[in-house]
Amino acid sequence: MSETAKIILGEKEYELPVITGSGGEKAIDITKLRDLTGHITMDIGYKNTGVTTSAITFLDGELGILRHRGYAIEDLTEKASFLEVAYLLLHGDLPNKAQFHEFDEDVREHTLVNEGLEGMFKAFPTGSHPMGQLSSMITALSLFYPKSLNPNRPEDAVNRTVLRLLAKMPTICAMIYKKRNGHPIIYPKNNLDYVTNYLNMTFGQVSMDHYHPDPVVVDAMNKLLILHADHEQNCSTSTIRMVGSSQANLYSSIGAGINALWGQLHGGANQQVLEMLEVIRQDGGDVKKWIIKAKDKNDNFRLMGFGHRVYKNFDPRAKIIKKTCDDVLNKLGVYDPVLEIAKKLEEAALTDPYFVERKLYPNVDFYSGIIYRAMGFPTDFFTVLFALGRLPGWISQWQEMRKQKQPIARPRQIYIGEKPRKFKFMQDRD
Ligand code: SDX
Repeated sequence: MSETAKIILGEKEYELPVITGSGGEKAIDITKLRDLTGHITMDIGYKNTGVTTSAITFLDGELGILRHRGYAIEDLTEKASFLEVAYLLLHGDLPNKAQFHEFDEDVREHTLVNEGLEGMFKAFPTGSHPMGQLSSMITALSLFYPKSLNPNRPEDAVNRTVLRLLAKMPTICAMIYKKRNGHPIIYPKNNLDYVTNYLNMTFGQVSMDHYHPDPVVVDAMNKLLILHADHEQNCSTSTIRMVGSSQANLYSSIGAGINALWGQLHGGANQQVLEMLEVIRQDGGDVKKWIIKAKDKNDNFRLMGFGHRVYKNFDPRAKIIKKTCDDVLNKLGVYDPVLEIAKKLEEAALTDPYFVERKLYPNVDFYSGIIYRAMGFPTDFFTVLFALGRLPGWISQWQEMRKQKQPIARPRQIYIGEKPRKFKFMQDRD
C-alpha cells in the first residue's frame, strides 16, 4: 500500500501520493495539486520544495552525510582522484582501469582551447573579477562549437561537448590567472595528470624548464576539487537544471551556473570568508566582538562560511578541509595568522546559543580559502576553484535532467498587485 498525504480544503479532502527516496527521505507529490484543488503551494527560496528525483548525490543535513552515487565523501577524498570522481558522477560508477584510461585519454585530447578565445582577454578590464571572465569564456565556447548549440544531438556528440568542457575548464582557469598577472599563458602538457596539468598551467613559467608542484599541493587540490564536485540541488546546480530545461546548450547552461555560484551567499562565500578574516585580523583579532556583530539583527555582518540550508550539523566537507588546511600549512611551512582567527571564531560560535539554536556550523567555504591562499591563489580567484571542482557535478545534473526528459521549468506565483484598472490618457492623469 503506497503512502499518501491527505489535504483538507473547506469541505473537500484530497489524497496525494508520497514519494520515498532510497535514503528514506519523504516528499508529497503535488504534481496534480492545481488540477485537483485549484491551489498551488508557496515556498519562498524552495526551502521545502523538491524539484526532481536524482541518483547522483545524497545529503543528510541532520547527520552531516554526503555521498556521491553511494560512495561516502570521506572515502572519495582519501582514495580517489578528482578525475575518477568526475567519471563516477557522469557515468554512475567508479571506472575500472580500462574505462579510466579511455576517459583520461579523451579528456587529454581536448585540453587546448581555440586561440581566438585568448582575444577575449583584450576586452576584459585589467583586474576584472575572474568569475565574470570565466562565465564569459565558458559561454563563448558555444560560439566556437556551433554544432553544440543543439543539445538534442546524438549522445556521442553531446559526450564530446562534455569532454571538451571538462578538458578546457582548467586551461581557461589557468589562462585567466596568467592574464591577470600579465604573464604569458602556459599550454597544457598532456603527459601530466589532470590536477598537475592545471597547477602547471597556473604556476609554471615559460622561463622554467620544469615546474614540479609540491605533491602536498597536488594532493590538497585533488581533495578540494573532489569536495566541491557536486552537492545535489544547490543554487547554481538548480540554475543549470532550469536553464538546461529550456533546451539551452550545455556551455550556456554551465555559464549560467558559474554566475549563480559567484553570489556571496553561495560559492562567493569562500572569498568573503578570507576578506572577513582579514578585517577581523586588522581590527585586532577580537573574535568575541565579531560574534556579537554576527548575532546583532541591526548589523548586516554575517559570519561568512557559517550556516547552510541543508546541513544542520557539521558540513562533512568542512571537517575534511580543516584537517587538510592544517596538513598543507604545516607541510608548506606556511604560518597564516587568519587560520588561528578562523579556529577561534569556530570555537566561539560552536558554543554560542545563537549559533547552536540555529544549527549554524562551518560550511565548505570556511577553511577552503586559507588553503587556496597558502597555495598562492589571490582571494578573488577562490570561487573559480569552486567552479572548477563543481563542473562534473553540474554536467552530471544537467545530463540527468535531460535523460529524465523533464519539462521546461516554469514556477507559478500568487499575484498581489493592482486589481483591473481603466486606462487614462496622460492629459487625464492627476
Ligand atoms: C555554499 O546549497 C548548497 O549546497 C551550497 C553549497 C554547495 O556546495 O553548493 O554547500 C555551497 O553555498 C555554502 C554556503 C556559503 N554561504 C555562506 O557561508 C554565507 C553565510 N551563510 C548564510 O548566509 C546562510 O547560512 C546560508 C545562505 C548559507 C543559508 O541561509 P538560509 O538557509 O536561507 O538560512 P537563513 O538565512 O534563513 O538563516 C536562518 C537564521 C537567520 O536568523 P533568524 O532570522 O532565524 O534569527 O540563521 C541566521 C539568519 O540570520 N544565520 C546567520 C548566518 N547564517 C544564517 N547568522 C549569522 N551568520 C551566518 N552566517
